[in-house]
Amino acid sequence: MHPVSKCSLELIEKATSSLLSGAIVAFPTETVYGLGVDADNQVAVARMYEIKGRPADHPVIVHISKINEVDYWAKDFSKYAIALMRKFWPGAMTLILPRSDKAKNFITGGQEFVGLRIPSNTIALNLISNFIERGGHGIAAPSANRFGSISPTSASDVSSELGEFLDEKDLIIDGGKSEIGVESTIIDCSRALPRILRLGAVTEAMIREVTPIDLDNDLNEIRVSGSLTRHYSPKAKVVLDREAKPGEGIIALAEIPTPAGAIRLAEPKTVTEYARSLYSALREGDTKGLKTIVAITPIGDGLAAAIRDRISRASA
Ligand code: TXA
Ligand code: MG
Repeated sequence: MHPVSKCSLELIEKATSSLLSGAIVAFPTETVYGLGVDADNQVAVARMYEIKGRPADHPVIVHISKINEVDYWAKDFSKYAIALMRKFWPGAMTLILPRSDKAKNFITGGQEFVGLRIPSNTIALNLISNFIERGGHGIAAPSANRFGSISPTSASDVSSELGEFLDEKDLIIDGGKSEIGVESTIIDCSRALPRILRLGAVTEAMIREVTPIDLDNDLNEIRVSGSLTRHYSPKAKVVLDREAKPGEGIIALAEIPTPAGAIRLAEPKTVTEYARSLYSALREGDTKGLKTIVAITPIGDGLAAAIRDRISRASA
């Protein structure tokens, strides 16, 4: 475990100094918690990859605080990319854009594209803008979990998942529970039309209000670690859409009753609540030492589709 710090103005200053000196700062965003480092600092980025156990050829998202900061990291991006930034930033959307010469291979995984996001969480925004005011250009942050595991939605999740790998100069900022609970929508902006690479709270219908989209879902030429078939997985076996037996965990909308002897891990009333509680419910299943967790997936598109995507990867 690693101590968790309640957010305050002094803590933002301290966290900024930590980042500028090459340390790691785990911070809340509205989607999930991120494991932040100075995106210009190759040594710090390498340490972050090591702590995550992530292969070096997987790119990482750079978090910025204002649209004009995009120009440091990316160049020659399309008109629709600008329209998407204006509409959905700050928010749960990551854009994959042609990189500038400042976005080095250690950030892009050697690809010619860089992933950028402006989160809406107040603590995240304050941290990033303070960091950029004090000389930084962006905070590289993957979800603050070990590679392949479930993203953390609270500071204590980060601490129990990665605390043993952090030291005194690193920080975990406590910003309460993540508001959305699943990772950002990722949109590839490298072609004539945008392509959705990862579903999230910025939905296909919302994107279509701004621009037509490319439905080609052959993702082979772009490496998105979240697109690995098995990902977001707890230790327990996750099975979908069947009745839970005695001793098995169950995650389902509140309207679905708990079968006799099954262990209720979450009973969200809405799809929004489902997204918010999904990862902590999977973690709780592991804490309880359950062998099997049954998830009854929500129907519909939008966030429900993002939830089904994550649960089916957890069950792969
Ligand atoms: O909501 C989120 O996106 C969270 C918070 C912390 O911002 N971050 C997150 O990061 O989920 P991560 O690294 O766990 O997942 C980001 C995904 C990865 O699958 C990565 O491969 C993809 O984004 N990605 C990042 N940069 C990319 C790039 N240049 N080209 C293709 N994919 C990229
Ligand atoms: Mg991740």
